[in-house]
Amino acid sequence: MTNKVVIGGNWKMKLGIDESIQSVKGLIVATQNLDLSSIEVFVAPSFVSLSDVFTALKASPIKLAAQNMSEYVEGGYTGEISPKWLKSLGCEYVILGHSERRRIFGESSELINKKVHNALTHDLKVVLCIGETAEERASGRKEEVNAEQLSISLKGVNADQLKNIIIAYEPVWAINSRGLNPTGDIIPATPTQAEEMHNFVRNWLVSTYGEQGNQICLQYGGSMQPSNAKELLSIPSVNGGLVGTASLKPEEFTEIIKSAL
Ligand code: PGA
Repeated sequence: MTNKVVIGGNWKMKLGIDESIQSVKGLIVATQNLDLSSIEVFVAPSFVSLSDVFTALKASPIKLAAQNMSEYVEGGYTGEISPKWLKSLGCEYVILGHSERRRIFGESSELINKKVHNALTHDLKVVLCIGETAEERASGRKEEVNAEQLSISLKGVNADQLKNIIIAYEPVWAINSRGLNPTGDIIPATPTQAEEMHNFVRNWLVSTYGEQGNQICLQYGGSMQPSNAKELLSIPSVNGGLVGTASLKPEEFTEIIKSAL
């Protein structure tokens, strides 16, 4: 099966520079007596905090991730961030295709596919997010929507490159995000719902990539918390978590990390 369980913290636009430094320092202290060698942990602060967080992480096994990047490498693209710069700032991972990028900022799977290739070319590992909305699920389209996001976002990615990709299945309705779920009705996927979709994604990957599809990490995301992490992570096809809200507080994030050990 997959190599390592991967737990990622996505800090979104929720922690400024000082708060990010505080949070990462707290995380280092909270995890200092844990043996993290069997798993991988990353944090994804805002672009402006990457450098300081990397400095704080220097002696730690915790890795750095960016939350997004450009489909371009350099040039006249005002406001964009190059994968080259993320690499030079110490990023090992980049999150691409997060539902907030897809649904609030209108990123298409075609655009995300360009970013995926750009990241892989520049030696960044990709956390590719996919997931259906409540409406898509209610209309019986959850498999179709996730399969389409996978096939377009991964177009042209070969089995060898797939080794550097994590798929994060994040049902949009389960993400604790006012931007995505303004009514505030947010409930995590049940273990049964998560297992069903993770098995679907695993089968899609195996039928597309053969045995390599069995090796890659499938993270679950959407209201993962200390209270539900252990059960979700005990599902064979759930190989990690992409954690938003509960990753902001070092103690809570550490509890989730401990559930993966
Ligand atoms: P949440 O966010 O854990 O706050 O639901 C997850 C995510 O958006 O990656």
